[in-house]
Amino acid sequence: MSKIKLLDEDLINKIAAGEVIERPASVVKELIENSLDAGATRINIEIKDSGKKLIKISDNGSGMSSEDAKKSIIRHATSKISNVDDLFAIQTLGFRGEALASIAAVSKMSIITKQNNELEAFNFVVEGGKEISFGALGAETGTTIEIVDIFFNTPARKKFLKTDSVELRHIVDIVLRYALINENVSFRLKHDKHELLNSPAVENDRNNLASIYGTNLAKELLEVNYQDDLVKITGFIAKPFAARNDKNQQHLFVNKRWIRNEDITKAVYEGYHSLLFVGKHPVYVLNLDINPLKIDVNVHPAKTEIKIEQKKEIYDSVLKAVRGTLEKHNLIPVMDINIEEQLTFGTAKKENAEKNVKYRFESSKQEVLDIKKVNHSTSIDDFEEESHSTPEEEVFISKQKEENKIENLKLPAMKVLGQIHKTFFVAETEGGALFIDQHVVQERILYEKFMGQLMNKKVAVQELLQGEVMEFSPAEKIYLIDNLKKLHQLGFLLEEFGGNSFVLKTVPSLFGKLQPKDLLFTVIDKLKEGKSKLEEIQEEIITRMACRASVKAGDTMTIPEIQKLLEELSNCKLPYTCPHGRAVLIKVPVDELEKKFKRK
Ligand SMILES: Nc1ncnc2c1ncn2[C@@H]1O[C@H](COP(=O)(O)OP(=O)(O)OP(=O)(O)O)[C@@H](O)[C@H]1O
Ligand SMILES: [Mg+2]
Repeated sequence: MSKIKLLDEDLINKIAAGEVIERPASVVKELIENSLDAGATRINIEIKDSGKKLIKISDNGSGMSSEDAKKSIIRHATSKISNVDDLFAIQTLGFRGEALASIAAVSKMSIITKQNNELEAFNFVVEGGKEISFGALGAETGTTIEIVDIFFNTPARKKFLKTDSVELRHIVDIVLRYALINENVSFRLKHDKHELLNSPAVENDRNNLASIYGTNLAKELLEVNYQDDLVKITGFIAKPFAARNDKNQQHLFVNKRWIRNEDITKAVYEGYHSLLFVGKHPVYVLNLDINPLKIDVNVHPAKTEIKIEQKKEIYDSVLKAVRGTLEKHNLIPVMDINIEEQLTFGTAKKENAEKNVKYRFESSKQEVLDIKKVNHSTSIDDFEEESHSTPEEEVFISKQKEENKIENLKLPAMKVLGQIHKTFFVAETEGGALFIDQHVVQERILYEKFMGQLMNKKVAVQELLQGEVMEFSPAEKIYLIDNLKKLHQLGFLLEEFGGNSFVLKTVPSLFGKLQPKDLLFTVIDKLKEGKSKLEEIQEEIITRMACRASVKAGDTMTIPEIQKLLEELSNCKLPYTCPHGRAVLIKVPVDELEKKFKRK
């Protein structure tokens, strides 16, 4: 007897729904995508009981005819593609023709929809995929879809739902994503009696971000605008010091579709390379415009994964876009004394508490968002005229002054005032004071110089006249033999000397302050940590060597010495952090001080 049965349609639909509709947030995602595909500029979302009781989405999009409304819940019914060629040139968010069918299969659903040219709207009610009623009624152009009692007929799925707050967070995340990338669409999200998000349609994406993330973060954002033959990359990345402990504020879109993609994410991190503190994650909202023919969206029913034909090239473009943007800007963190106080004493003031409101838009604060104004308002010449410096306290002016335009200046003009605690330099600068960590300054300088030498395959070495005989353990010897060539490239020339001994003939001269042996052991320690390829850890080795060779906190330095060091720093590509992402310098603005002294 045959054991194989054909499943009935109801069961097929429930199985298929399992792939697309995992939780209330999946419904919200699919319905928002449909509204966007229908050209809506206003999307209102109302949720009750974290979506378990009600999900209601109304849009002012194109609406459907009565016939289409009925067809819309049939599996594999779509208005968005009609042949295989279309499938590989997707321009819309939806295309599989299964979202509404899946939602209808596991809920009680009502669709009210009206097209612009129709006189009346239609109301189509479905329960567990079966038609309950269909009739005409009065309504505005657009579509309103109400989902009640999700998973009422699939109790197993219902059981797996997480706590209300988790489900709600998923919903907020979804709405947020679409609000972030569609600045010309107004989004409102209401949960029970609370409005959780109100993101009006605005003209530019910076204001849109401010309305969603709040002005504090928005002013740390740098605009990305990059284009080559393959891809156009637009959006925002935050300065390294606005990095977070989690990855919640990272959003990648391809052709305005929110996606997950390891390669692109890696490229973004690589763009921040040596600027992020360990364990910190950059904040970014980036959209990649890629020719739809060159990507495949039909990878997974949730449509959040894509395949990219020119993966490697796109990786390079993203890296260039991020790196280029960071290199163009002044990345010095500005200290907000009030916020510091909040962090230290936990006494959140009301005004600051208000500043942190996440999802509200305060148009009065928009002027602070003009990053260019903040960064480049300082003209060196203006500042020179103002300052009355003695010859000893020469105003430090970057050598780049003559060569580069002011926009390219990495460090502002400053007058070095001295050193405090044998740890920090203090300098006066336009609009405030700079505090500079002397150890970190040198670390960055050494790191960039050495990386430069290494890239050009010209590591300057210092010969050890006598040669230094060093003895290693058998295990260490193996690492050494495997890596002699690489070590030579790094500036360490070693020759075998019988047994487990080697003679060290040269060391990289940049790190001359260190004892040669110390230096080599630093390198070998790294090798011993498990990774055997020197390329993989080369940079970390350099970072470590730079750290060990740098002036320490506690070294006294004269003003000319400090100036010389800062001049070298200004020639760095990214003079803002040590290679591990710790700040080189922090600015305390005068108006913060004035506030603190109650002068304002
Ligand atoms: N809000 C809406 N406004 C206008 N038409 C809609 C709306 N929602 C759905 N439709 C119509 O119903 C059809 C079916 O929607 P459904 O979401 O099931 O499939 P899809 O969007 O085509 O593909 P996918 O399954 O990938 O989302 C759509 O192709 C569209 O024509
Ligand atoms: Mg759809």
